Amino acid sequence: CGIIGRVGDGNALEPLLTGLENLEYRGYDSAGVAVQNGSGINVEKRSGKVEELKDSIGEPLSGKVGIGHTRWSTHGPPTDENAHPHTDESEDVAVVHNGIIENYVELRERLAENGYEFTSDTDTEVIPHLIQYYLDEGLDSELAFRRAIDELEGSYAVTAMVSGEHVLYAARQGSPLVVGMEDGEYFLASDVPAFLEYTDSVIYLEDGDVVIVDEDGVEFTDLDGDPIVREPETVEWDPEQAGKGEYDHFMLKEINEQPVSLAQAIEGRIDPINGRIALSDFEPGSFADVDSVQFVACGTSYHAALYGSLTLNQAGVQSTALLANEYSVSAPPIDDDTLVVAVTQSGETADTLNALRRANAEGAHTLTVTNVVGSTAAREADDALFIRAGPEIGVAATKTFSSQAVMLTLLAQRITDDLRGEPPTDLESLLSALDAMPGAIDNLLDDSDAAEIARRYRDSESYFFIGRGLGYPVALEGALKFKEITYEHAEGFASGELKHGPLALVTPDTPVFAIFTGQEDEKTLKNAEEAQTRGAPVIAVCPEDHPAVAIADDHLEIPETDPDLAGLHANVQLQLVSYYAADLLDRPIDKPRNLAKSVTVE
Ligand code: G6P
Repeated sequence: CGIIGRVGDGNALEPLLTGLENLEYRGYDSAGVAVQNGSGINVEKRSGKVEELKDSIGEPLSGKVGIGHTRWSTHGPPTDENAHPHTDESEDVAVVHNGIIENYVELRERLAENGYEFTSDTDTEVIPHLIQYYLDEGLDSELAFRRAIDELEGSYAVTAMVSGEHVLYAARQGSPLVVGMEDGEYFLASDVPAFLEYTDSVIYLEDGDVVIVDEDGVEFTDLDGDPIVREPETVEWDPEQAGKGEYDHFMLKEINEQPVSLAQAIEGRIDPINGRIALSDFEPGSFADVDSVQFVACGTSYHAALYGSLTLNQAGVQSTALLANEYSVSAPPIDDDTLVVAVTQSGETADTLNALRRANAEGAHTLTVTNVVGSTAAREADDALFIRAGPEIGVAATKTFSSQAVMLTLLAQRITDDLRGEPPTDLESLLSALDAMPGAIDNLLDDSDAAEIARRYRDSESYFFIGRGLGYPVALEGALKFKEITYEHAEGFASGELKHGPLALVTPDTPVFAIFTGQEDEKTLKNAEEAQTRGAPVIAVCPEDHPAVAIADDHLEIPETDPDLAGLHANVQLQLVSYYAADLLDRPIDKPRNLAKSVTVE
């Protein structure tokens, strides 16, 4: 989500809307602004993009001070009510917030008992009511803000304003916030790109900081009000580039976000008490009657679906993954005990929605695994499991694939547990691998040789990817990513299939990326050697001390981990290879020709 606030001369509305547009890459399912001219606060907010918000502001709002927010829902659908800013009943206090208020249930109960009325499902709404509560107690605005902040548990970046004052109050705990300064004009934002058109002089807030901003300047304090000295710095980004942060492309940014997006996917979903996959999104025993599972999906999501389906098969549960666009002609039989899982990052892919609708019509229990809380798939499926990857801008899916595959691994464990009444025997190894995964991916990203490998093989004719077991969907995904963004020919195969036809294509100009996941690796190694004998260079994607390293021509390292997750580590290396290969070819990486992020036609 994105926050913007502005104090200064002239109307705040334009810099607020510009700020929201600049921040849209952080979330774009609802947006809102609140401005005030000294006599009252006016709020405009709605679900949809900033563009729609702009169009809906009929009578232009005016005021010297204001706040705005663009939202990416993780809890509570993207409705007008749930959009920020949130206010108290009389619109005396307006607040925008990023993060999670962990104790919001108890705060909400207490405030409700005191007669404060809530209108949204959000945790944020407790903040304006809490500030109002202290104002009603007779405290001044600054103290009321401090008291309210003091009561919050969790992570937050908060910006608030109180009716009748040209002042912004802000606080940070675990969620970024930065002040921008220009003569007589001041900004608060979750990220610098929000206000780069206006100023490049910034001060970043640190955890525990409380900031008071008015037309005369910025005051940094701690929670108790004691002053803190923070020096301004100058940022050197151009506004165009800034949304990508330090990266040249959104794709590379999103590849590098995987340690965080994976941690978010896993967070709170493993029962800390008995070490089982609680997947708290579902009641115990929810899947006890399932007799078969059908996954439907397209593109990269299909590869994640195949990953989930193979995991279930390996655990002894009957399951199949189908391309959603084939489902209308060749769906397997469905009955009430069939679970149909629609895997879709956007939740809007027409092919996948059609398959979901057919499954609904035939009486299956349906579930979607998606990144978008208010999406059509989330609304139409019986249940939804959100991957919490944050917005993905690059057309080629990267972080959403990893998060989908991890969510489906958790789901597969949970289904197996419900069906058998006990978790699969190797759960301990999986749990420790899940725990280590964000850190392991972080290290892998730091030490990857992918750029060098991409350079070494840049003049090849075709690129092959092979894998077995859970390495097979990763081989398919490795090839899809490569062809999508480099426009070079690439194919993924099950390792054992190479000898049944594709071997005819193998030459010294067709590098073979061999993925080793710890599932019959000796056979995959033999298949890789069959290609190598015909002159193809082999790049082994495996741990450092794996036997394949000695035989292969090149090596991309992954950590030793559980076979259920090894392929997802390998996939990150392959994402980087595709990225660097496309960059050498100077392709428009974030927007490959002929492709769209979400295809809403059949
Ligand atoms: C489009 C995109 C692919 C994506 C597929 C499924 O074709 O270009 O990258 O994998 O749609 O999208 P979904 O939103 O359903 O995961």
